[in-house]
Amino acid sequence: MKQTTTYLIGSIALFAALGVGLVTASNNYGIHTERGGHYLSDEDDDEREGKYAGQRLGFGEDVPRAADPLYLQECGSCHFAYQPGLLGADSWGRMMAGLEEHFGDNAELPDAPHQKIRQYLVANSADRVPAGRSAGFAADADTAPLRITETAYFRHKHDEIPPRMVIDNPELGSWSRCEACHTRAAEGSFDEHEVRIPGVGPWDD
Ligand code: HEC
Ligand code: HEC
Repeated sequence: MKQTTTYLIGSIALFAALGVGLVTASNNYGIHTERGGHYLSDEDDDEREGKYAGQRLGFGEDVPRAADPLYLQECGSCHFAYQPGLLGADSWGRMMAGLEEHFGDNAELPDAPHQKIRQYLVANSADRVPAGRSAGFAADADTAPLRITETAYFRHKHDEIPPRMVIDNPELGSWSRCEACHTRAAEGSFDEHEVRIPGVGPWDD
């Protein structure tokens, strides 16, 4: 028993030391460990340097994945259940206030689920929890865009992909279908190396 306790305390101390080591390494060299321990050093990603980088981000996630069952059911029936961290709090508030005219569809909900989903989205929005790439999507939270695909960060990340592969692509047709190209979108992963564009194939630039 005593031995087990000693072993446990020893392990905890070891893990704590490792943790401190990682944090120190990332501070000294400007490298990130938030993608589940992989070192990333994307020059073009200064937005992730913020003090929130890594906060509430799970293994392999670029944005915290959507886990709320009610949300997944109600907001994932017509399209991909966009992670709350892809838009700012005001965007979600505006969207939830106008569900009866939601991009040409009626997406109205009864009171109770409506309130729960709104709270979930706002509490986990890109500006409230700017973990990983959510910090990028939070950049124009002030203007409360209704589309993720209209944010400056989204446009910047996709500006090299020609319209023939998306809007004019008979197998795709819309930028809003994240999951059609990002094979692990549902897991919160938007790594460019995991992209497969329908009718085109893997993306390599
Ligand atoms: C009845 C079907 C339907 C339901 C239910 C629905 N949506 Fe949508 N949603 C749409 C359509 C249609 C679009 C536009 C897609 C396009 O342009 O390709 C859209 C677009 C969106 C976009 C913008 C995507 C972009 O282009 O950046 C967001 C965000 C969104 N929906 C969130 C939600 C949320 C949150 C809920 C749950 C409260 C929800 N949707 C429920 C039909 C629906
Ligand atoms: C036509 C396929 C396609 C669609 C649809 C698409 N993406 Fe992408 N996305 C890409 C490609 C390709 C890249 C890499 C671009 C590059 O490196 O030039 C990318 C890059 C990204 C990045 C940056 C990743 C990195 O490693 O730098 C994020 C974040 C992202 N997409 C999120 C989204 C979200 C959210 C949606 C849906 C609202 C979406 N994408 C829809 C193809 C797509």
